[in-house]
This record gives sequence, C-alpha cells and structure tokens, in this order.
Amino acid sequence: MTFSDEERESFVRLMRWRRDVRHFETTPIEPAITAQLQLAMEMAPSVGNARPWRVFQVESAAKRQAVHRNFLQANAAALAVQAPQRQHQYAQLKLEGIERAPLQLAIFTNTNPSEGHGLGRHSIAVSLQHSTAMAVQNLNLLARAHGLGVGMVTVLDAAAMASLFEVPAEWQFSLYLCIGVPQFTDDLPLLHRKNWQENVLHPWQVC
Ligand SMILES: Cc1cc2nc3c(=O)[nH]c(=O)nc-3n(C[C@H](O)[C@H](O)[C@H](O)COP(=O)(O)O)c2cc1C
Repeated sequence: MTFSDEERESFVRLMRWRRDVRHFETTPIEPAITAQLQLAMEMAPSVGNARPWRVFQVESAAKRQAVHRNFLQANAAALAVQAPQRQHQYAQLKLEGIERAPLQLAIFTNTNPSEGHGLGRHSIAVSLQHSTAMAVQNLNLLARAHGLGVGMVTVLDAAAMASLFEVPAEWQFSLYLCIGVPQFTDDLPLLHRKNWQENVLHPWQVC
C-alpha cells in the first residue's frame, strides 16, 4: 500500500487538528460511526497481541452523574495540591465534558490477560497500559476524521471507577473519554491557549 503526498499531508493535518476537546455540542453520534470507532481501537498494536483494553459505552444517566461526581471530588483534591500561586488558574480550567458529550467511554486495562501469554510484558508490565493508550489514539484520530472531538479525563479516582463499573480486580481504570462534535476547533492545546503549559519541543538526542 502506498500513500500520495496529498494523503500524507491530510494525515499530518489530522494530527495537528486532533486537539483534546472539553466543549461539546450535544448532537448525537450515529451508531455506525460509534461502530467504526470501536473498530479503530481493535486495529491498534498491543504487547503480545494481548489487546488488554476493556471498554464500557456509558449510556446510563445515573452512571454519567456518578462519574461526574467522581470528577468533582477528584478535581477538588487535585486543586488542593496545586502550588498556591497556580490554584486560582487551575480552578478556571475546564478539564472534562462529562455533562454534554453524547458518547462516553470508560476504559479499563486488563492487567493479567490470558491473550498474549505474557509475551513482552514480563519486564515492563506497564506495556499493557501503553497498549490501551495506543488503541485510544487510534480512536482519537478516526473520531477527528469524522469531525468529532475526544476529551480524555483522568481527573478521576480509579478505585471508585472500578467499583462503579464493578470490574474484576485485575482490571485497572485507564481513562474516561468524552466524544462529540466540538463547539470550536483549534490548532493549539487548550492548556497552551489558557497559558497553563505551552508546547515545549524536547529535541531528540542523537547518540
Ligand atoms: C493520558 C491523558 C490523560 C489526560 N487527562 C486529562 C484530563 O483529565 N483533563 C483534561 O482536561 N485533559 C486531559 N488530557 C488532555 C491533555 O491535557 C492534552 O492532551 C494536552 O494539554 C495537550 O493538548 P492537546 O491534546 O490538545 O494537544 C489528558 C491527556 C492524556 C494523554
């Protein structure tokens, strides 16, 4: 398979415009697109081909409210440990879109999957979490290609998420995704735009 210059440029544009989204329209997402997003995750690489991501599509209003309450508590705790001179700015940041995003996914990682027979993760156990992250990025890029935005949320208490979704003990909470049509698009991270953290280039060290 080969790609033209134009196709490569489109891919770079996709990555540039991918941006984490926290402000959503409530327009529902067609089930066919949701199915494609699921497939995008399934195409990701994973250590030993273990495919450790475990996903809940959260439709229940009660569950969404519980996740939002979890966020509010976790965010208050995170605010309290910010450096005093940053607390005011932290409190102004929007760090989730749970109350509006039409599609929401709670993503866990099975830390002891039988698939893959342990290959590749004996020395680096976190490679299972890395595998989940790669599947999320596949979803992220395809969502953007459909004009959707994805917001990643980790300001959440992991134990409370495990208990809310009643998962087996070996499933670790990875992150929560809010997905929907963005209210605006940007080519800069929102945290850069809000003067929290600008993008810093760490050059490759050649050795
Ligand atoms: C693993 C992970 C967890 C994240 N958790 C949050 C979060 O809880 N809340 C939030 O607003 N953004 C979260 N983000 C988004 C980052 O803040 C965002 O990716 C970063 O500021 C760069 O912006 P960009 O994604 O628009 O390039 C998370 C990103 C990653 C990769």
